Parts: sequence; structure tokens; C-alpha cells
Amino acid sequence: MDKFIITGGKPLSGEVSLCGAKNSGFKLMIAALYADEPTTLHNFSKIGDVLSTAEVIRELGGEVTFGENHVMQVTPRGLSRYNLSQKSGELSRAATYFIGPLLHHFGKAIIPNPGGCKIGRRPIDRHLEGLQALGAEIRSFPDRYEIVAKQLSGGHFTFPKNTHGGTDIMIIAAAAAKGKTILENAAQEPEVDDLIAFLNQMGAKINRVEPRTIVIEGVDKLHGTDYTVMYDRNEAVTFGCAALATKGDVFVLHAEEKDLGAFLMAVKKAGGGFEVERRGIRFFYKDPLKAVNITTRPHPGFMTDWMPLWGILMTQAEGESVIHETIFENRFAFVNELKKMGAKIELFNPVVENPEEIYVFNLEDDRPEYIHAARIVGPTPLRAMTEEITDLRAGASLILASLIARGQSELLNVEHVDRGYENLDGRLKSLGADIKRVNI
Ligand code: EPZ
Repeated sequence: MDKFIITGGKPLSGEVSLCGAKNSGFKLMIAALYADEPTTLHNFSKIGDVLSTAEVIRELGGEVTFGENHVMQVTPRGLSRYNLSQKSGELSRAATYFIGPLLHHFGKAIIPNPGGCKIGRRPIDRHLEGLQALGAEIRSFPDRYEIVAKQLSGGHFTFPKNTHGGTDIMIIAAAAAKGKTILENAAQEPEVDDLIAFLNQMGAKINRVEPRTIVIEGVDKLHGTDYTVMYDRNEAVTFGCAALATKGDVFVLHAEEKDLGAFLMAVKKAGGGFEVERRGIRFFYKDPLKAVNITTRPHPGFMTDWMPLWGILMTQAEGESVIHETIFENRFAFVNELKKMGAKIELFNPVVENPEEIYVFNLEDDRPEYIHAARIVGPTPLRAMTEEITDLRAGASLILASLIARGQSELLNVEHVDRGYENLDGRLKSLGADIKRVNI
């Protein structure tokens, strides 16, 4: 177990490079299991979610080897099991992604309930309904799902609400199904398109014909390939917010405007400085920041993963801002910690006229104790504190708060951050942050 010791108050400056996208790398490893030959992935991040996916692949009989310079090889030959162990399956959101390749090889898959950050109930009803539309038979048990299909067949499925992971697993499953699948109301996240590009390079026939409609012509065989994972846009937002909140100037190498539209728009409204260049985006402080309201939405909207970081930035902005979270039903756990640091934040449930349309989570998963919005009044100086990290993005936001705070903060449970960021502490240090990792 490690903790971070951070002494705040230093403006960050310099150049930092993004790593491979957390929400892409692990799923490409799983899709690679369709082939008989090995696949080489470049630019993966060495993070908890990738390592735990490698562990599951090894348990199933496949091989994963990590080389130098963020190159990895996934070798499906040897796959001999179709059931994911309870423990490894629960470590991340990866479990349902295995269904397509396991059905393809064995006609059967047994998976536990997927884990991941505790930011809501995170059911998989939309994944399961979609697979049923392709002919899968599914039996649910309290601790696992058993899915059977000798051969999936193409189908027409409309997602009842947006689901990033559900769209991914349906694309993977339909890639090797018999016949044509049409997915409507499908997610538009760039990581979904990275998966499509990867599968097409393996020989799949997948086409996004409309922004939210994806057509998949199933193929009999997919082959191994050589692919470079996209860069992590959530890291770009992390470093961008860190530059602005610490009144610094950071060039984020490989950040791409097309993946960050809603964030850049919000930065502009807040009066933050940024310059889009061919190699990346420079974020810099120019004038005092102004309060800006945001409502999280599926892509191309303002992403839910950016919300906690934006919340920290708004503690440093002039005026009152409101953040409305509509994707997950319980994502404000970090606010209590932030209040202890001196932030002026009040949580509340806004009046919403059409909750079924606005909220992406299932309304039956909502609880009276869950809160969907925060009102922040800034600017407020933050005090250093000892804090427990509860989930990945909340952890990144508490790091950011500690970089602003006066004095020395200690952050515990940093493994949540290591699940999604490779060497975040080292990269912040290279920008001038006073951050130390200590083994406890
Ligand atoms: C992915 O989660 C990402 N995780 C999340 O990143 C990201 O916040 C989210 O997409 C939105 O972009 C990975 O890619 C591993 P969803 P996912 O299916 O696929 C509900 C991070 O910090 N829902 O779009 O789980 C669900 O509970 C993580 O990097 C159902 O009710 O998100 C949620 O409230 C956190 N039933 C909402 O929909 C379903 O069958 C959106 O979920 C599926 C989803």
C-alpha cells in the first residue's frame, strides 16, 4: 500500500505526455482473443485495469507479455477455460467484454458481476438485453451470469439509454456473429471508435453509419494485428485542470481537440487559457477564473469523468457554479473530503422535469440519499489534509486539490489512482509538483 505526500502551492509548468487510454487498452486486449495469432498493442498504459485484464487472460489459458516502451503482446492460443474467476472478474469493468470471444471459442461464458469504481449500482441489464437480441441464452445467479450461444446471430438492437460499455460489448459480440447487426442509440465515445478501428484491423466489418447507429457485418474469422492504442483524453483533462488550478502553464503532448470539445468550451467560458497545436494542447492561466456551470452528458457532451476535476477548478473560480451529474447516480463522494479542505460546496438535488430523459442511470437505481448536483462558491483557499481516496477520478481530483492547498496533504488508498493513471505522481513531479509516494 502506498500513500502520496503532497505539498501544495507550486504552479505546474513544462511538457507532459499522455499515456494510452485506460478506457480503451483493456478492451482491445480482450477483443484480441478472437484471433488464433498473437496481437501486438503499442502505447498501452501500465495501469491496474490493464494488469488485471492480463491476469484474467492468463487464468483463461491465454498469454500476455509486456515488453519495453509500452508494447504488449496478447496470444490467445492456449485459451482453455470459459469461466472467469470471481476475484479477478470483479477487479474491473472488464468481465462482460469477455463474453463475445468466449462464446466464439467455447459456445459458453461464465462471468461474475463486473467491478470498477463504486459510483453507482452499475447494472448490466442493457448489455444482457443486447446479447439476448443476438440469440444468447443467459441465466443469472447472485454471483455470476452464465451465457450460452453456439453461434450468435445478427440482430437489430436499440439501447434504451446511452451505455459506453454496453455498446462496446455488443460491437465485440456482433463482430463474429452470423449476419448483420444494427445497433441504434449507440454510444459515441472516442474509445468506442478506437475499438471499432482495432476490430476492423483484425478483419471485422463495422461501420458507424450515423452518429448513433453502428452496422456490423459479422465475419467468420478475425486475425491478429498490430495496433496503437489511442491517447487518454481523461489524462489530458487532468493535466489541463492541474495547469489552470495551480496558475501554471503545461503543454499536454498528444491531447486532441476533437476528443475534448466540451471541456475546451468550458475552459474558454471560465477564462482559462489554451492553445491547440499540432502536437498537443497548451493549458495556461491568464486571468482569474470565472464560475461556469456544467451538466455531464454522454459524448460529445461534458464527460462524467471530468466532473470531479472541474469541481476542484471551480473552487478556485470567482462566483457560484453548479455541477449536475447525470450519468452515474452516486458520484459526489469526494465532496466531503473537499469540504474538510475548506471548499464551499453544497450538495442538492435539482428539480428535473424529465428525469427519464436527463438521467442516464436507471431511475430505479436512484436512492433518496444519492445527490446529483453541487453548488460551489469560489474562490476559496484550500487547507492541506489527510484524505482517503474512494475512487479513481475522485482520487485524481483530491491530488489536484492538494496541489493547490497550502501545506502538506496525505492521500491514502492511492491504488485507486494507479488503476487508471500510469505514474501520475512521477509525471506531476516532472512538472514541478512536490509529490512523494511513500510505501506504508
Ligand atoms: C464507461 O463506464 C467508463 N469505464 C467510465 O469510466 C465512464 O465514466 C463511462 O463509460 C461513461 O463514459 C470504462 O470504460 C471501463 P456506461 P461504463 O455503461 O461503460 C448505467 C473512469 O473513471 N447502465 O455508459 O460502465 C450505468 O450504471 C470510468 O474511467 C445501466 O443502468 O458506463 C451508468 O449509470 C468510471 N445498465 C450509466 O448507465 C447498463 O446495462 C452509464 O454507464 C449499462 C449502464
